[in-house]
Amino acid sequence: MDKKNIDWSNLGFGYIKTDKRYVANYTNGAWDEGALIDDDTINMSECACVLQYAQTVFEGLKAYTTEKGETVVFRPDLNAERLANSARRMEMPVFPEEKFIDAVEQVVSANKAYVPPYGTGATLYLRPFMFGINPVIGVKPADDFQFRIFATPVGPYFKGGAKPITIKVCDLDRAAPHGTGYIKAGLNYAMSLHAIVTAHKEGFDENMYLDSATRTKVEETGGANFLFITKDNKVVTPKSDSILPSITRRSLMVVAKDYLGLEVEEREVYFDEVKDFAECGLCGTAAVISPVGKINDHGKEICFPSGMEKMGPVTQKLYDTLTGIQMGRIEAPKGWIKVID
Ligand code: PLP
Ligand code: COI
Repeated sequence: MDKKNIDWSNLGFGYIKTDKRYVANYTNGAWDEGALIDDDTINMSECACVLQYAQTVFEGLKAYTTEKGETVVFRPDLNAERLANSARRMEMPVFPEEKFIDAVEQVVSANKAYVPPYGTGATLYLRPFMFGINPVIGVKPADDFQFRIFATPVGPYFKGGAKPITIKVCDLDRAAPHGTGYIKAGLNYAMSLHAIVTAHKEGFDENMYLDSATRTKVEETGGANFLFITKDNKVVTPKSDSILPSITRRSLMVVAKDYLGLEVEEREVYFDEVKDFAECGLCGTAAVISPVGKINDHGKEICFPSGMEKMGPVTQKLYDTLTGIQMGRIEAPKGWIKVID
């Protein structure tokens, strides 16, 4: 199959319309069969619940071309499970997990020409999402929902790829203690838009959010979890009920322990101890692992010993091993890789 004529190596993280998307509708209390369609637009009431009360949840995962030329996706079962958890919290129907995986396969298979070739550094990003579609004016959940998955080829989330980024400590909160930080709901990202625009205007790449109750503990950024490396090579990641359970982070903890023989710790991380870490990185599907070189705390800088030129050595090993697994250069743990015909 011929690949599309795209400058794969220079792709940023943007939207490019691809040929097919999957759509399923939930009406009268049941999901329909679902199908691939061509139309990338959505027609809905001006009073649709998603437009008035932001009843929407989503996921993000990627398809890769491996060294052997196969097309694969990484741990889609965990995205299916997380979407189901997000839906429950948002009073939305669960999209059955087996159907989710089948829909991912259909979308990747139908858009194979857009799966970037091996070695280009690009991947096919998949965006499953679900939203309340019928008119709702009193505050209540919708009765009817639409589930979709579209695909778009992407390059690195941060310009400069694996170059260390600079982030700032944000004064605004992302998630409340008993709120929705642990699910992937659009509303969490709407909350972060003013903060990210402000950070960019000030010359920073991202925000570090602290826990909103005490503002003493590290939570996450707008779109990735944190990983820290101690001076004696331990991998530490923040534990919190108000951050998204990143699939990349959970995978990296396994990679650190089982592939690299490193000690790993998931625990509360106080902002005060951040200055003592040797390396810092952001991890997520879009971010992969993006090294953080510097954190600006209201003008006071924390500069990690790994510097602003390249990833720290442990972060680099984690990156190489994870991407090696995703691209088929390193044997994956059982069940992590799904080959798409
Ligand atoms: N945290 C937030 C807020 C995110 O949006 C994402 C992206 O999905 C992540 C963390 C990373 O999660 P994952 O590794 O599952 O993509
Ligand atoms: C992802 O990594 O899949 C996300 O959803 C993060 C988003 C900020 C692009």
